[in-house]
Parts: sequence; C-alpha cells; structure tokens
Amino acid sequence: MIKTIYGTKDILPFEISKWVFLENMVREYFKRFNYKEIRTPVFEETILFSRGIGESTDIVSKEMYTFLDRSNTSITLKPEMTASVVRSVLEHSLDKQQILSKLFYISPMFRQERPQAGRLRQFHQFGAEAIGVNSPLLDAEMIVLSYQILKQIGLQKLTVKINSLGTPEERSKYKDSLKTYLEIHLSSLSEDSKKRFYTNILRIFDSKDGGDIEVMKNAPLLIDHLGTGSTEQFETVKSILSELNIPLEVDPKLVRGLDYYTHTTFEILSESVGAQSALLGGGRYDLLAEQIGDRRVPGVGFAAGLERILLACENEKLFAPESDKIDLYLIRLDKELLVEVGLIANRLRAEGLIVEFDYADRSVKAQMREANKLNSSHSLFIGGEEYKDGKLLLKNMNDGDQVVINKDEIHKILNVIKG
Ligand code: HAM
Repeated sequence: MIKTIYGTKDILPFEISKWVFLENMVREYFKRFNYKEIRTPVFEETILFSRGIGESTDIVSKEMYTFLDRSNTSITLKPEMTASVVRSVLEHSLDKQQILSKLFYISPMFRQERPQAGRLRQFHQFGAEAIGVNSPLLDAEMIVLSYQILKQIGLQKLTVKINSLGTPEERSKYKDSLKTYLEIHLSSLSEDSKKRFYTNILRIFDSKDGGDIEVMKNAPLLIDHLGTGSTEQFETVKSILSELNIPLEVDPKLVRGLDYYTHTTFEILSESVGAQSALLGGGRYDLLAEQIGDRRVPGVGFAAGLERILLACENEKLFAPESDKIDLYLIRLDKELLVEVGLIANRLRAEGLIVEFDYADRSVKAQMREANKLNSSHSLFIGGEEYKDGKLLLKNMNDGDQVVINKDEIHKILNVIKG
C-alpha cells in the first residue's frame, strides 16, 4: 500500500464543506477590504526564501523542501507566501503601476517540521499583503481584518499579541545589549539556545525550556531600545486598534520566526488548539523587497493556518455535523431503461437539480436504500406499467406524497421539488 507522506493529509469529501465554508468566508472578507487574489507557483528558486526569510531562521536552516531539478537549479517548495508575493510585485512592476497593491492568497505551504496536532508538512495558509505604502493604518488593517475573520467564524478564546521590532539599526544595537546580558547566563541556557546565541539570538525568547524562560525573564527588551520614530509608529498602530475595540496584549517577547520584519509584528493565538496556539501571524517588512529585488518597497501582511483554525473550530464545536442533500434519486424499475434514466437525469441536471441514480445495476430495493442514504428529497420511479402508459411516479421522501408526472412534462418535476 502506498500511503500519504508523513505530515501530509488527504482532505476527504466529508471534510470539504468546512474548508469551502472557511475559504468562502475569507474571500468575502478580502473582497470587503478590496484585496485582490494572487496565485504564485508552488516552487521558487531557493535563494528567494533563504535571502528573504533569513539563513539562520528555523524555516530556512531546517525545514525547507529543497532539491536540485534536472538542470541543477536549486528549487524550494514555498514555505510561506510573503517572499513570493513581493517577488511577484517587483517582477511585474505592480508597485510602479499603482501606489498600493492589496493582495490575498489561499495556498498550500511546505515545511519539514515535526508533525503534531495543528502542525503539518503540507499545510494551508490564507493571508494578505499590502505592498507599496508604509502607513500605520495598514498595520492596523491587517490586524482588524484577520481578527474579524476569526470572530466571524465564531472563535471565542482569542488573544491578539503585538510587538514592535523597530528598525534593523535599533535591533542591532539591542542585540548587543542582549548579548552582554546573556553572556553571563550562557552556561544556564539549553543547548539549542546556546546555538541560537550565535546564530539568531532573538529566537531564544521563543524557547520552551524552563531554564531558558527563567533567564529570559530579566533580559533587556527591544521595545525599550526603540527610537522615537519607531515608538511613535507603534503607539499610532496601537491607538487605532484600541479605537476599533481590538483587545491587544503588548508582548515585548514576541519575536516571530522570520527575519524580514521591521516595526509592527503580531500574532493571534487561540486557547483551543493546544501547543500550536498561533492561528496567524504577520507584520511589517519594509526592507524585504530590497533584499530580494532591486528597490525598496514597504509592505505589511499576515498569514493564517487553515488547519489550525479548523482545529480550533472543532474544539469549540463550531461546525454542525454535515447534512448533505440531493434533490432527486432516479429509481430504475426495468433494467433496459438505462439510457432513459441517463437522459432524464441529464435534462433535470440542466435545469439545476441535484440528481443521482444507480450506475451499478442494483435491485430496486437497493436503489431505494441509496436514495435514503443520500438524503434525497424526492425519488422518481422509472419503469413498470406506468412508464408504458407514458407516466412517471414522483415521491416526496419526507411525507410519502406521490404525484404522477407525464413523461413529456418532465419540467413539472422542477416545480414540484422546488415549489
Ligand atoms: P508564520 O507565522 O510562519 O508566518 O505562519 C503563519 C501561520 O501559518 C501560523 O500562525 C500557523 O497558523 C500556520 N502554520 C505555520 N506553519 C505551520 C505548519 N507546519 N502546520 C500548520 N500550520 C502552520 C508566515 O508564514 C508569514 N509569511 C506571515 C506574514 C505574511 N507576515 C507578513 N505577511
């Protein structure tokens, strides 16, 4: 038996309605905020992500699906969309055609992480990127938009965390003071954090190790090292959000796992999903375009994990069990009427009815059982004496009412079923 690859999942027909429900709602929201859909290839040149996301991040150093193609080009399955969207904006000069590109996506992503509940190797994100303008209004819009989507879905136990990572210069100065502080405590840090001390010191804030957490409690914070410009920007974003009644928690230890952020970063977490509690994350990335392209174009965005949101929905019991229905099941009483059944089905499907019939030559009893199983609102009996007299019997499966329909007045079936 060949099976799915570890950490990937089939989304089976019985689960699809939840996905479609979510995707439709997300599309509806993006439309309201006037974001346009963008689709980029599933794979890109590796350098796009290694430069964009940062060599020392976990994503680039440990998690990417990278391989050489047949012409020896290093290819990577996209682990996130922001770098791809920015590449696309630059490549097609969207930034020169309009001052602001407001884009959204729904797409699979790939990261070779250790699978667990809410963490997969192929997962799906929806997200938005607003590229071209640096305005605190856009930072706030990303948080409002993503928060409203989660609220509209019905999720309750949400926390919105926000932080500012300032400018690279502020961050670099701050890293020096963090280094000075941690040098004294280096021996108490976990092995992983010792490595991060040299490669990506800010990520030590993300460690789940008890000893590390203890050390980081008294660490200096970036937020205290921001210049007036960055502080003002952060205050403006927060005050817009507070006017909009978004409950915010400033978390100076929120560092995020991608290196391209400047200024605002945020995450929305749910109590309903266990360890992988971040439903979405995002922030501003004013220097990313310059890192992967030839010019500076500011941007801000977020991405949400669909699997995690579905998990939260399941745990908060937000989805009623699915009740699929069809309009009509055709029951063939005489085996030789195969073609007639096909024709009637075709005619009624063209009228817009959901019609099903038996393809497997089963008995009348089995066909009736199937009509019940499919939750058909009506069944149509084709065959027997009535058929010879030019008639068909239409039965309401709920109340048992029967109506006789003339064979040449099939359109009347639509009136009976749809009322
Ligand atoms: P991220 O925090 O790496 O950010 O991912 C965003 C969301 O994707 C996470 O909050 C989570 O819900 C989901 N996610 C990430 N990894 C997995 C996984 N292995 N399995 C299931 N779900 C996962 C980004 O990707 C940035 N591009 C967000 C962004 C957009 N920043 C600015 N614009």
